[in-house]
Amino acid sequence: MEENNIQNPEGIPAKLAELEEDEFHHVNNPAAGIKPIVKKYLSRPVSAEQKNNKFYFSDGDAKVEVTVVTDEIIRVRLAPHGVFLDEFSYAVPKLEKKVSVFGLNELEEEYIVYTNIINCHIRKADFFVSFSDNQNFITSSDAVPMHWEENVKFGGYYVYCTKTCHSDESFFGMGDKATELNLRGKRLKNWNTDAYSFAWNQDPLYRSIPFYISLNEGVAHGIFFDNTFKAEFDFGAEDPTKTSFWAEGGELQYYYIHGPHMMDVVKRYHLLTGTHPMPPMWALGYHQCRWSYYPESKVRMVTKTFREKKIPCDGIYLDIDYMDGYRCFTWNRKYFPDPKKMIKELSEQGFKTVVIIDPGIRVDDNYSVFKEGKENRYFCRRCDDYFMEGHVWPGRCQFPDFTNPEVREWWGNLFDELVQLGVAGVWNDMNEPAVFGTGTFPDDVRHQYDGQRGSHRKAHNVYGMQMVRATYEGLRKIMKNKRPFTITRAGYAGVQRFSSVWTGDNVASWEHLILGNIMCQRLSISGVSFCGTDIGGFSGEPDGELFTRWIQLGTFSPFMRAHSAGDTKEREPWSFGEPYTSINRKFIELRYRLLPYLYSAFWEHHRYGFPIVRPVVMHEQFEPTNHFRQDEFTYGDKILVCPVLAAGQKNRKVYLPKGKWYNFWTHELVEGGKELMVAAPLETMPIFVKAGSVIPEYPVMQYVGEKEIEEVKMNVYYSDFEANSFIFEDYGETFAYEQDIYLEKKFVVRGKENKLTIQQSMEGLYTPRYENYHMNIIGLPFKPTRIIVDDHEVKDFMIASDKTVQLKLRKNFTQLVIN
Ligand code: GLC
Repeated sequence: MEENNIQNPEGIPAKLAELEEDEFHHVNNPAAGIKPIVKKYLSRPVSAEQKNNKFYFSDGDAKVEVTVVTDEIIRVRLAPHGVFLDEFSYAVPKLEKKVSVFGLNELEEEYIVYTNIINCHIRKADFFVSFSDNQNFITSSDAVPMHWEENVKFGGYYVYCTKTCHSDESFFGMGDKATELNLRGKRLKNWNTDAYSFAWNQDPLYRSIPFYISLNEGVAHGIFFDNTFKAEFDFGAEDPTKTSFWAEGGELQYYYIHGPHMMDVVKRYHLLTGTHPMPPMWALGYHQCRWSYYPESKVRMVTKTFREKKIPCDGIYLDIDYMDGYRCFTWNRKYFPDPKKMIKELSEQGFKTVVIIDPGIRVDDNYSVFKEGKENRYFCRRCDDYFMEGHVWPGRCQFPDFTNPEVREWWGNLFDELVQLGVAGVWNDMNEPAVFGTGTFPDDVRHQYDGQRGSHRKAHNVYGMQMVRATYEGLRKIMKNKRPFTITRAGYAGVQRFSSVWTGDNVASWEHLILGNIMCQRLSISGVSFCGTDIGGFSGEPDGELFTRWIQLGTFSPFMRAHSAGDTKEREPWSFGEPYTSINRKFIELRYRLLPYLYSAFWEHHRYGFPIVRPVVMHEQFEPTNHFRQDEFTYGDKILVCPVLAAGQKNRKVYLPKGKWYNFWTHELVEGGKELMVAAPLETMPIFVKAGSVIPEYPVMQYVGEKEIEEVKMNVYYSDFEANSFIFEDYGETFAYEQDIYLEKKFVVRGKENKLTIQQSMEGLYTPRYENYHMNIIGLPFKPTRIIVDDHEVKDFMIASDKTVQLKLRKNFTQLVIN
C-alpha cells in the first residue's frame, strides 16, 4: 500500500482529532515517548468490483463498499483494512434493494456507480466520493478522503468523513438539538444524556439521530450516518468550507439520500428507518401528567375536575410514586390500594391510565423482577463480569440488557399484569440510560447487541430505543389487536417504529417555549413525528400567560401532554384561574375538533412517510430567507400555525408560503408569499388554512369515544384552482388497518367562474358508522343559486352571516356542484 499516513494534511480541521479520552491524548503524545496515532486516509482506488447491487473499491488495503439501495439512496461503507463488519442495524431493520437499473462506469478520472436518478463518483486521483443528479449537478462531495485512526484501547477505529460545505448551504435535522432550526455553523454531539433543565445550545441531549438534510442552491440531500457510537457533526463550525461527521468507533457507514426536495429526503429517510405505527386515537387527545399524582384520591380529584370543568382529557399519568419503593412493576398499596378498581373507574370516565417504567431494577432478593433478572443473567455486566450497578430512584440498581432479544421478550411479558389491571400506555423514562452521579454506564459494560456483541460505547445510544422496543413489542403481544401507546425519553434513529417521544425536562420559560417549537419541528423531520414537549415547562413556574401560550403550541404538537416537576405548584389547565382556564379549554377543545384531521396526517406519516409537523422551509426551500424561519410551521399540509412565543403580544408577524390562505378564525382570505401582521391576543393564535382544503371536524368530546359521532363536519375552503385533500378513517384502536381495513377519502375542490365542484372518491374496506356530513363551504365568492349533489338538486341549505354555505349531505356523495 502506498504511504498514506498523513498528519494534519491541509484542510483538516485540527480539532477533529480532539477526542475526549485521556488515554488517546496520552498515546498521541510523542513527548511521552509513545508512538503517535495518526490519521490514515484513503489513497487512490486501484480496483473496482461489482457484486449485484454492491460495488467495491480498494486502494490496496482499505476498501469502500457502495450499495445501491434505491434509485435515490446509496450507502457508503469503509473498511480500513478491507474487512467489513457484519451487516446489522437497529435503525434500518431491513435493507431492501428496490432498484433495477444501476451499474458501474469507468472513466479516465473516475468510477461512477449510477442509477436512473443519481451517480456516485469515486475519483481515481484521491478517492474522493461525491454524488450528483442526472443533470450532473454535484450535490455532495468529499473535501478530503474518508479517514480513520486506530483506537488502541478498545480496538477498531475512530472514523471520519469530511465533505465540502458551500457558502450558502443550510442544514436541518439531527432530531433532538436545543438550538436554532438551521444547524449551519453548529457542532453537535450524539450521546444520549439525561439533561435536566437543559439550556439553549446544551448538547448532547436525550436522543441521537445522526441524520441531517443539506440544502444548497435550492437542492436538498440527506446524510444518515448510521453509527451508534459517540459521534459528532460539524456543519461548517470549525471551518466554514467543511461539513464533517465522525464517531469514536464502529463503521464509517452512511446513506446518501437524494432530494431534490426536502420532503423527498425525509420520506426516503423514513423508507430506511420506518414510521410510527398508527396510535390509538385517544393518544392524540390531551394528556395530563405530573410528578406525581398520588395517592389515588389526588388522581381522582384531578380527573373529576377535568370532567366538572368540561376540559377534554384522555390520558392520565402515574409517575414513579405509584410504585413500591420505585420498584418497576409493583404498586404502592398505601397510595393505591386497589389499582384495578381505580383504573376501571377512570376508564369509565374516559381516562386512559399511563404508567412510568424506568430501566433501573432495585437490587433486592425479595423482589421478583430482580430475582428473575438475576437468575436468568439478564442484567448488564462490566467487562470483567461484575454487575453494572448504579443508583437511580429505587437506590442501588442493576439494569436489563435490552440489546438482548431474550431480555426484551422477558421485559415485554412483565407488562402482562399492568395490562390486566387496565393500564393503556407505558412511559419509558431514564433510558439514556441515566445513572445518578456518574451520568450513565461506564464504557466497558458489555451488551449482547442482538448477537453482534459490543461495549456500552456501541450500545449506549440504542439502549433506550431497545427498552421501548421491548415495551412496545410486549404490549403489542399482550394487548392483541389493540394498539399500545408508548412514550420514551431516549432514542436512536428508528425509535419511531416503537414509540412517541417527549423532549425531556424542559423549563417554564419563554425561551423554552421557543425551543420546544423548534425541537418538535426538528424531531418531526428527523423521523419522529409523534413528539411533544412538557406543556408549561417541567421545572420552574410558568405564569398563566406562558402556560396558555404553551397549551396553544401543544394543540398543534402531535403529542399533547402537560407535565411538571414535583416541587412546582399545581399545573392543570385550570390552575391559573380566568381568563386562562377558558382559553385553555377552548384550545383543548380545538384539539379534539381537529382530531380527524390530525389522525389523517398521522396516516400520511405512517403509510407514506410524511412528517406531521413541517417547517416552512420544507414548503419553499428555494427561498433563502425561509432557511432561517423557525416559528411558523404547518400541521399536516393544510394548516399553518404560528405560536406566540413572547409575553404581552397582541399581534405577531407571520410568514405565509405562496398561495391563498384563510384566516382560521375570521375566514378572511389572504395572499401568501409574504409576512403579515396578524392579531394574536391571548385568546387566539395565528392559524391559517390553505385555500382548497377540506378539513374534517369532530364535535367537541370530553374524551375520544365519548360520543357516537353522528355527523362529521367538513369545512371546505373555496379555491379558484384545483386542490386535493385526503382523509383517513378506521376503527381508531385496532390493527385492522394492517389488513387494509380502512378508508382513504380524496376530495377534489375546484372553483371556476361562479361554480364550485367538490368531488369525493374513496378506497378501502372500512365503513364509518355516521351517515352524514355537515358541509361548511367557506369563502364562496358568489351567491349560490343551485346546489346539485349527484344529479339531485338540494334545496335545503343555509347561508350564514359570514356567507358560509351550510348543508347536510350523505357521506358517500361523489359530486357536489354549486353555482
Ligand atoms: C425524569 C423525567 C420526568 C419525570 C421524573 C420522575 O426527570 O424526565 O419526566 O417526571 O424523572 O420520574
